[in-house]
Amino acid sequence: MNEPRKPWPVRSRQAKLAVAGAGVLLIGGFAFGPAAVGAAAPPVYPAAEVHKPSPIPDRVILVPTTTPATSQRVSWRAEATADTAQAEILEAPRALGQVAPAAGAVTGVKAIASTPVNTTLGYASTYHTAEFTGLKPNTRYTYRVGDGTNWSAWTDFTTAASGFEPFSFVYYGDAQNYLDSAVPRVFRQAFADRPQAKAIVNAGDLIDSANSEEQWGQWFKAGGFIDGQVNNVSIPGNHEYSGGLSAFWRPQFPYPDNGPGNAELKQTAYTLDYQGVRFIGLDTNHQSNATLMAAQTTWLEGLLKDNPNKWTVVTFHHPVYSTTGTRNNPNVRAQWAPLFEKYGVDLVLQGHDHSYGRGNQVAARKSATVHNGVAYVVSVSGGKMYALNGGENWTGNGAEVRSTSENTQLYQLIDVAKDTVTFEARYANGEHHDGFTIRKNDKGERTVNELRTAENTVGEQVTVDKTSVRRLEQVKVSAYGYDPGERVAVWWREQDDAARGGGGNGTLIGYEKADELGRVEETVRVPVLAKKGGVYVVHLDSQHQKITSPAITVTK
Ligand SMILES: [Fe+2]
Ligand SMILES: [Fe+2]
Repeated sequence: MNEPRKPWPVRSRQAKLAVAGAGVLLIGGFAFGPAAVGAAAPPVYPAAEVHKPSPIPDRVILVPTTTPATSQRVSWRAEATADTAQAEILEAPRALGQVAPAAGAVTGVKAIASTPVNTTLGYASTYHTAEFTGLKPNTRYTYRVGDGTNWSAWTDFTTAASGFEPFSFVYYGDAQNYLDSAVPRVFRQAFADRPQAKAIVNAGDLIDSANSEEQWGQWFKAGGFIDGQVNNVSIPGNHEYSGGLSAFWRPQFPYPDNGPGNAELKQTAYTLDYQGVRFIGLDTNHQSNATLMAAQTTWLEGLLKDNPNKWTVVTFHHPVYSTTGTRNNPNVRAQWAPLFEKYGVDLVLQGHDHSYGRGNQVAARKSATVHNGVAYVVSVSGGKMYALNGGENWTGNGAEVRSTSENTQLYQLIDVAKDTVTFEARYANGEHHDGFTIRKNDKGERTVNELRTAENTVGEQVTVDKTSVRRLEQVKVSAYGYDPGERVAVWWREQDDAARGGGGNGTLIGYEKADELGRVEETVRVPVLAKKGGVYVVHLDSQHQKITSPAITVTK
């Protein structure tokens, strides 16, 4: 194996073998396969060994409270008793180890819950929860969990600010499958791109078999140390149910118990406000249960009606608009979508369909690139894929798909600011997939803007209120997709000239500035020199867009 690296292409016999044989690995110009090694395949290392608990904590994960500025929950797994399970916390010092914390700096807390979960692997996994209270807002702490003797590593997190503060979070569709092979690179790339993210939203189907100790072990390994630093906001998918909610769910994810109040929905429907964003998690696994749906609908409307936050994010598993052919969630769509639209929910983050779809209701459409409604997204982070259909579940229900993809493992980065929320989906290899920017003003008016491309910033995108006019008549013109304050030149041009790409012989009507939502609304008076029978367009020319109205005919 100490052969020097050879430049590609390699003319060796091994290189030819590499080309000829599938499953042959080429490393540094030296090829070998199982046959070359000549040994029998080793046995599979048993899951009971891989995931066996010890007194050393693992599966450490931050779970938010309803007061994230001053309190924090953490759960973990370890062989420990309810008497010994505990945590320690202090304001994050500049050093630990040889440097002892200042006297009195460390606060110890006893676990508030220790729950053994029986497993199929011959042992119980005992999950513990500790809650840190009385914390300072927007302050970095370090904590560890253990039994007083055996501890996790010290791990840092920062409490939420007490009011609005920009932050980022990550959203994943179903991980579910290939948890120990294909999923970890997605989780790691998301963390590499947004190490400062304050939350990770999982829209259900985190694993495939609700009560599989092995799969939960794999899921936690996929997240690794990240989960100990970033608050997790997950809701269950159908794969977290198997004759009832997974026995792992509540011990692992001790979410706020502030849902509709039904026992079935405890910690599967919950809400929290984080730095100006209201997160609402709903449980669509009960979509055929009229009582549990009605309870969630009433609870949801209460949270939306009385909401002091500028931004609202709702997450649940079964999507309002499905991306695959055989799926449909009419109760979710009928009962919740009208509330999302009425109360101006910004993002609806969903899963279940193992593909990507993003769109909006047709009624919210303002232009080819802009709408002012709810952004509905379905995504997938894991390796199981379903084929897309033609979007019939969207178009058949008054919605439109603006972006879809299949066979793509994705993660979504969401950056919350005072006046914007930007959303970007990226592939497992970190490349850009899809994205948009929501702009909202203080009146609550909103535009949802596609990311601009060379293709979507030209062509017929200007709306006019009439296409047949007399000279000196007024035409109302509107256009979208600008940067706030972008300067836009408004031209009256002969259509033939516009089609040729010319601009020299049009009439400059004037200049407009896009408003804070990137809108231009302008009244254009048809020039007196326009020819009777002539066909014209209104052309808007700015730094970012060169767009045109439909043809306007001058009748007299
Ligand atoms: Fe799924
Ligand atoms: Fe699902």
